[in-house]
Amino acid sequence: MTATATATRVKMAEGLTLARIIPGLMRLLEWGLSREALGDWIEQCLDLGLTTFDHADIYGGYRCEAVFGAALAARPGLRQKLEIVTKCGIAFPAGAFPQWTMHHYDTSRERIIAAAEQALRHFHTDYLDLLLIHRPDPLLNADEVAAALTELRQAGKIRYAGVSNFMPFHWTLLQSRLDFPLITNQIEFSLTHLDAQYDGTLDQAQELRHPPMIWSPLGGGGLFTAQDDRAQRVRAVLAQIGAEVGGAGLDQVALAWVLAHPAQTLPVLGTGKLERIRAAAAAETIRLSRQQWFRLWEASTGHEVP
Ligand SMILES: NC(=O)c1ccc[n+]([C@@H]2O[C@H](COP(=O)([O-])OP(=O)(O)OC[C@H]3O[C@@H](n4cnc5c(N)ncnc54)[C@H](OP(=O)(O)O)[C@@H]3O)[C@@H](O)[C@H]2O)c1
Repeated sequence: MTATATATRVKMAEGLTLARIIPGLMRLLEWGLSREALGDWIEQCLDLGLTTFDHADIYGGYRCEAVFGAALAARPGLRQKLEIVTKCGIAFPAGAFPQWTMHHYDTSRERIIAAAEQALRHFHTDYLDLLLIHRPDPLLNADEVAAALTELRQAGKIRYAGVSNFMPFHWTLLQSRLDFPLITNQIEFSLTHLDAQYDGTLDQAQELRHPPMIWSPLGGGGLFTAQDDRAQRVRAVLAQIGAEVGGAGLDQVALAWVLAHPAQTLPVLGTGKLERIRAAAAAETIRLSRQQWFRLWEASTGHEVP
């Protein structure tokens, strides 16, 4: 299938629009790009209409934000052409934080504010488009998190706020303390990870009309490499359907499967390879029939629908 740049934009709440397909930067350091090459990479993503970039403070051992930001700083005007999404709340031992001796969560006001301000410095910007609370901290104090997000928003340091990996009840609790809407819940969903279909997160996203960002939409690569029965079944059906829709790649059909969900999913890609990103953008044009969608569901679950 010919890969054409077709990335559309999605209206979130309160006037924010994001690209439907979103490059994720978790693996950035593995790509070994120079600052110049990363600048070119960002511009090529923008040319494809992929204007939204997903980060987290922890990526690359707390180093990815700054590497990306250095590429932005080297090209004046670039920052205004894109949306920066980043996350905070996970704490693990890393050079920058010698005081942390174990993996834990920290959604205290101080940590949220410090992480946002650190991200502003890393990205050489004075605003973040969207800040997400990375995981539902069991010690999360909703009043405190809401106060921190409100403070950041009132100061213009973040435009919007959201969450990641939240169950519907976590979302409802935090939302109950905010006087502005959370924008999205970034959750895992793919042909190798169907939980979001059963735990209410996709239903809540649809109910509230808050399009969910989808992490690891290709199973973190396991869709292509895993040797278990399920992965082999899924690959075989992806290949059949790819041929049926005119020669689409396995990755494109797998993304089309995620994109078909009526919650208006926004897949966050993990690859840095431009040919794969281009193919992903083109996957938006693939329309699976209901039966093609269920053939993949059946391959993933290993059984027919009841
Ligand atoms: N909120 C959260 O808790 C959370 C958690 C995890 C990730 N994320 C976000 O989601 C993003 C994506 O996560 P992910 O990297 O796990 O996503 P993914 O897109 O499911 O997996 C990426 C992996 O798949 C491989 N891959 C992609 N296309 C391929 C193809 N056509 N053939 C073979 N291999 C292919 C990539 O290899 P190559 O690099 O060789 O292309 C890479 O190793 C991250 O960057 C991050 O922004 C968020």
